[in-house]
Amino acid sequence: MSEKLAIRGGEKVIPDGTMKPWPPIDDTDRKLVVASAEGTERAFGPHCTAFQGELAVWNGNKYAITTNSGTAALHMSLVACECGAGDEVIVPAYSWSSSATCIMQHNCIPVFVDIDFDTMNIDVEKIEQAVTPKTKAITAVHLHGLAVEMDPVMSIAERHGLKVIEDACQAHGAKYKGGKVGTLGHCAAFSFNQNKNLCSGEGGMFVTDDEDMLAKAKSLWSFGETRTPAESRDYHVYAMGWMYRNNDLTAAFGRSQLAKLDRHLAAEKANAERLTECLKDVRGLILPTAPADCEHCWYNYTIRFDMERLGHARDAAAFRDRIVDALKAEGLETGVWQAFILPAMTVFQAKNGYGKGCPWECPHAEPVDYSLDKYAVAQRHCDSHTGMTTPLRAPNGPEMAELAAKAIGKVMANLDQLEGPA
Ligand SMILES: Cc1ncc(COP(=O)(O)O)c(C=O)c1O
Repeated sequence: MSEKLAIRGGEKVIPDGTMKPWPPIDDTDRKLVVASAEGTERAFGPHCTAFQGELAVWNGNKYAITTNSGTAALHMSLVACECGAGDEVIVPAYSWSSSATCIMQHNCIPVFVDIDFDTMNIDVEKIEQAVTPKTKAITAVHLHGLAVEMDPVMSIAERHGLKVIEDACQAHGAKYKGGKVGTLGHCAAFSFNQNKNLCSGEGGMFVTDDEDMLAKAKSLWSFGETRTPAESRDYHVYAMGWMYRNNDLTAAFGRSQLAKLDRHLAAEKANAERLTECLKDVRGLILPTAPADCEHCWYNYTIRFDMERLGHARDAAAFRDRIVDALKAEGLETGVWQAFILPAMTVFQAKNGYGKGCPWECPHAEPVDYSLDKYAVAQRHCDSHTGMTTPLRAPNGPEMAELAAKAIGKVMANLDQLEGPA
C-alpha cells in the first residue's frame, strides 16, 4: 500500500531524538578523562603510554605508537616500509582521501587499482598488473570494517619484494581467517576519530610486530627526534619528522572507550544482522556481504541501489541523492561517504601536489596514468551507494535497526514519489 513519504509531507518513520549519539559516555570515561585533566602531563603523557600498550595487547601487536590521527599513522607506515621519493605505492581507487594523499606527502606516487564490487575493497586480482619496478608497497584498506582478503595480497608482496600496509582506520576488530586486521600485513594504521568504532574525538595508532619498522616510523613521529624514552631528549633532529604525537587527554578517552570496545562491536554486529534480516527482501537494494573468510566489524553499513533494476542506470548518482534526501526526511541520516573516486579528485587529475609537477615529475618518478576508465567498478559503486554508522552504534539497539530498515523500506516502496520534479 502506498504511503506518503515524509519528503512529500507524510509522517516521518524515525521521530526526532530517537537516534542516540555515538559514543555513549559513562563513569569509565569520566574517571579516566578527569584523571588526565587533573594530572600534570598534557602532551604525550602516561595515558598515551598506557593506551598504546593496551591497544597493542587488544589487537595482538608487539608494538604500537599513538598518534594524533590515522593519517599520521599511515604516513609513518610509509616510512616504516622505507618508501622514498618516486617510489610507487598501490592503493584502492575508492577510499578516504588520505589513504592516497599521505603517499604524495612522502613524495611517493599513488597507483590506483579498481575495487571489487561485492566487497567494496581493492580488487586483489588486479593488484599484480599494477606492480612496476618502482613499486615499494601495497596499501590494503579494510573498508567499512571488512578485511581485505590478505593471502593473495601477501603472496603478491612476497613475489615482488613489497611491503604491505594495512589501512585499518575503519576496521578495529575486523578479522580475516581468524586474525585481526593490523596483524596481517607488515604494519598498520588505526583511526579514532569522530564516528570510528573506537572513538576518542581524533587520534590514531601505528602498529607493527617489527622492531626495525617501529624505529623507522618513530623517526617521523616527533619532530625527527629519534631518541628512545630511556635516553634523555637532546632536541636534535636526526630525520625528517612532523608532530604526530597523541596527547594525554585524548588518550585517556581512547583508553576508556577501548575498555568497552568488544561490547560495542558485539552490539554493532547484532544491529547489522538485524538490518540485513529486515532489508533482505526489499526490491532494488544490494546489501553488504562478507566473504566466508572475513568477519565484518560493521564500521559502516553501506547499501547500493540497483540502478539498472530501478531504471536509473543513466542518472544513478542524481537519483541516489534523491533517495538519500527522502531517507533524511524520514529521520534516517545516511551518507554518500565519497562522492568521488580517488583518481577523479582534482589533486590527482591535475597532478598538482607540491607544485612544479612534484612528486609526479620529479626525476625519481616514472609517469603514471590516472585515466578514469580504469576504475569503472569504483565509479559504479560510488554513484549508487549510501551508508550509515550511527544506527549501528550502541546505545542504539536492534529496535533502531528495525526503524532504519522501516524507513528504507518505505522509501524504496514509494520511489514513484521521487520521480519527476523535486
Ligand atoms: C579508510 C581511512 N583511512 C584513513 C583515514 C584517516 O584517519 P584520520 O581521520 O584519523 O586521519 C580515515 C578516516 O576517516 C579512513 O576512513
